[in-house]
Amino acid sequence: MTPTLYLAPLRGFTNAVYRNIFSRFFDGFDLAVAPFISTTESIRLRDRHVRDLLPEHNLRMPVIPQLIGNSPEEFIRMTRRLSDLGYDAFNWNLGCPFPMVAKKQRGSGLLPHPDRIDAFLSKVVPDIPGTLSIKARLGRFSNEEIFRLIPVFNRYPLAEVILHPRTGVQMYEGVPDIDVFERCLEALRPPVAYNGDITRLSDFTRLSERFPTVDRWMIGRGALINPFLAASIKSGNDDFPDRIGTFHRFHDALFSAYREVYSGPAHLVDGMKGFWFYFSQAFEDTHKLVKEIRRVRCPEHYLARVTRFFEAEAVWRNPAPDPA
Ligand SMILES: Cc1cc2nc3c(=O)[nH]c(=O)nc-3n(C[C@H](O)[C@H](O)[C@H](O)COP(=O)(O)O)c2cc1C
Repeated sequence: MTPTLYLAPLRGFTNAVYRNIFSRFFDGFDLAVAPFISTTESIRLRDRHVRDLLPEHNLRMPVIPQLIGNSPEEFIRMTRRLSDLGYDAFNWNLGCPFPMVAKKQRGSGLLPHPDRIDAFLSKVVPDIPGTLSIKARLGRFSNEEIFRLIPVFNRYPLAEVILHPRTGVQMYEGVPDIDVFERCLEALRPPVAYNGDITRLSDFTRLSERFPTVDRWMIGRGALINPFLAASIKSGNDDFPDRIGTFHRFHDALFSAYREVYSGPAHLVDGMKGFWFYFSQAFEDTHKLVKEIRRVRCPEHYLARVTRFFEAEAVWRNPAPDPA
């Protein structure tokens, strides 16, 4: 069974600029779920709120918009606007762990409230111009919360449920609870996609052997660290010629693209620094590099330092580590 691979939404990283540059250099992903947009913007929706989703920015990798919110009316209004852009599949974020979001009963903050989720779905599912999928964690506080939600999810014709088997309060600590994932898989009626901590071909092999009925897999941080990962999963082969050269060219293309969209040099350098939290994990001994990049202020110094790294210092780390 050929797996369908989804690029995970990683706010601040896997935006349209990244997705387009990524697809120029790497294969393997069938589609992406875009980082969330908030439905509270639906009343005065401006171009900048949906810029990431404009069809002309998404010609290379098919994308599903993701919305975060708890008001059915706002959600429906937002999907109608997105439908005007040509979208007919929407994803609801029930996973965001950040306390500021969760406290307002959005993202993973809704998971302890099955009745609220039921009321939301009963209004939204029949009224949106397309299909709905859900991306969820196992709960906010406990990984048993999901078992009060599954009967609710099963009542609706959801396109799929993408499960990241951690709780919200866990953030990214610990390991995904794949035993609970297995119980969910047995109980959920909609198709289920697995998401969480796939950073190596061997992670995928282990999980796909354990869950042979799962044919949809979402990968986030593992792909940011190792952009060859999705292609290696598709081919079953982790050998790539000139990995470092390809990574270097990809990096430079990303830098150039960001130069166009970021408003100033500091913004540009800060944006690229964020990526190095992940990129650095693909290589051996990057402690010093990361410290030096952190200190850089202007784009030319940044580029010079990174070029020296790719041309003279970079050693591919194999296998890739677990995401920090
Ligand atoms: C920096 C960052 C931003 C994220 N932004 C989103 C988001 O916008 N929407 C969402 O559903 N999940 C978001 N996530 C969660 C990821 O999509 C994914 O579920 C999580 O990282 C686990 O998968 P992974 O181990 O393959 O990265 C984010 C995660 C990180 C680390």
